[in-house]
Amino acid sequence: MKKIVLSGIQPTGKLHIGNLAGAIKNWVKIQDEYKCFYMIADLHSLTSYYSNFNEIKDNVFDIYIDLLSCGIDLSKSKLFIQSAVPAHTQLHLIFSMITPLGWLQRNPTYKEKIIEMKDKDLSNYGFLGYPVLQAADILIYKAEKVPVGQDQVSHLEITREIARRFNYFYGNYFPEPEPLLTEIPKILGFDGRKMSKSYNNAIFLSDSKNEILQKVRKYITDTKKIYKNDPGNPQNCTLFPLYKIFTDKDKTDEIKEGCKSGKLGCVECKKKIAEIINKSLEIYREKREYFLAHKNEVTEYIMENNRQVNEIANKNIKEIYEIVGLKYE
Ligand code: TRP
Repeated sequence: MKKIVLSGIQPTGKLHIGNLAGAIKNWVKIQDEYKCFYMIADLHSLTSYYSNFNEIKDNVFDIYIDLLSCGIDLSKSKLFIQSAVPAHTQLHLIFSMITPLGWLQRNPTYKEKIIEMKDKDLSNYGFLGYPVLQAADILIYKAEKVPVGQDQVSHLEITREIARRFNYFYGNYFPEPEPLLTEIPKILGFDGRKMSKSYNNAIFLSDSKNEILQKVRKYITDTKKIYKNDPGNPQNCTLFPLYKIFTDKDKTDEIKEGCKSGKLGCVECKKKIAEIINKSLEIYREKREYFLAHKNEVTEYIMENNRQVNEIANKNIKEIYEIVGLKYE
């Protein structure tokens, strides 16, 4: 029996290359090895975008197409919308009863987001409970593995703690899920911060060739390399990690050498990486165009996947209700 995997992505914007390198490539890769459930976490977005959710509603469809275009294969995996599967919210409420506030208040992502997203008032109950909903997403399918980036590890720790506490009260039912981490380091946006939709510093998969070039130009390279022929240090360059993601070791070494020796200037280096990124996105662009021209087909995929996933989730929530002493029907 294949182990169950669940992962999710928030529809707060279109997919960017940080998503692709950090999570989605991994999602695609593991589809044969595991039974994968992938979802668009629209309810999670609601925890911070509660006052303007309309703005990101269209993103759900767009990201669905992005994910299909990146290689999520519906003959192997399920790809569904979180809010279309009510069992997630039912389990979330049960978990909210057994989750101590301290676990949530201490959560490093919580503290970080409150500081970073100053334009939003995040002092709401739902946002504090973000990891509780995430635990429900994972555990409603009894998933054992969760492919995520490093930034989600603390959330997964809370998922394990919730599973452990539930099992302690009610008997062994849930597994304690583990992250499936990708080796890829944090990808920086063109302002030098972590690439994130919420920071407006991302290169999107659907960006045009020219948009990609313009964004790449904004990256801050080694500030000590002022003239083309000055020797630079790739370690101090926010652009260099992109080479690590989009090229092999030989190419990365070549660039590193060129930079250090002063043979390669930043302007040219930027042009090169923009071309490389554009080339690697070609297949993706083709598929995306196909799906955009066949929207009805995509809508059918969404409906059918939601339906199939509901069957599984409803069966499990029924069991869970009975275990905690609630009568389901
Ligand atoms: N919190 C995740 C993110 O922002 C998205 C997410 C929601 C998720 N539910 C999940 C990831 C369950 C893994 C498993 O990236």
